[in-house]
Amino acid sequence: MQPMNGVVNGVDRSPMLTLDGERIAFTPGETVYEVATRAGRSVPTLCYDPRLQPFGSCRLCVVEVAGQQAPVAACTTHATDGMEVTTASAKIEGLRRTLLELVASENREVTVDALRGHASQELATLVERYTADSGRFVGAQSGRSQLDDSNPFILRDYDLCISCYRCVRVCAEQEGDYAISVANRGFATQITVEFGGDLRDSACTFCGQCVQTCPSGALADKKALRFVEHSARGAP
Ligand code: FES
Repeated sequence: MQPMNGVVNGVDRSPMLTLDGERIAFTPGETVYEVATRAGRSVPTLCYDPRLQPFGSCRLCVVEVAGQQAPVAACTTHATDGMEVTTASAKIEGLRRTLLELVASENREVTVDALRGHASQELATLVERYTADSGRFVGAQSGRSQLDDSNPFILRDYDLCISCYRCVRVCAEQEGDYAISVANRGFATQITVEFGGDLRDSACTFCGQCVQTCPSGALADKKALRFVEHSARGAP
């Protein structure tokens, strides 16, 4: 049996891939994204959360693999021995910019208050990094905000939703609640709870994990926002 570190009789027999011309050893089961991140590459992501199963919906993490006709999502592609990967090229960076412009075209607003949650700045940061033009594409938008939800904890501003499903997945995979789900497809996609009602009438336990993982500020902590509003008014 091969030891974990890949060294057999003093010789390193770990599987290797080539990343932007550099040979890197990896552990079987690692994804291209995990290897690239470990090797110091900054591959952009939006639907990825290291706590969750890879989902592969946003395609921001696309990389080129020698022998493959089309770029592949690094977060869902397992590293294989001898693979040759390019994580950044003019073609790949151009693709990422266009993808970001499509995503941003879905949002009423890209720049949101950092108090909306731990990950709330991810989309805005990427739009800035790629100098993506959020007004390049116009048209239909998915997601309808449910600002009239009377629960006191979580703001559901789905006009800002990018359908990464991180909230749905964290609720299921980390909390085991399955309180949040997805209705419809395409431009009719809507993140929702059972019967499309208020969170208070659902299986939601208000753990806040969905707020913390949302990369666009579509979900926010009402208490934090109330505090800021209160402070801005100079109230004690
Ligand atoms: S981060 Fe890989 S597809 Fe979204």
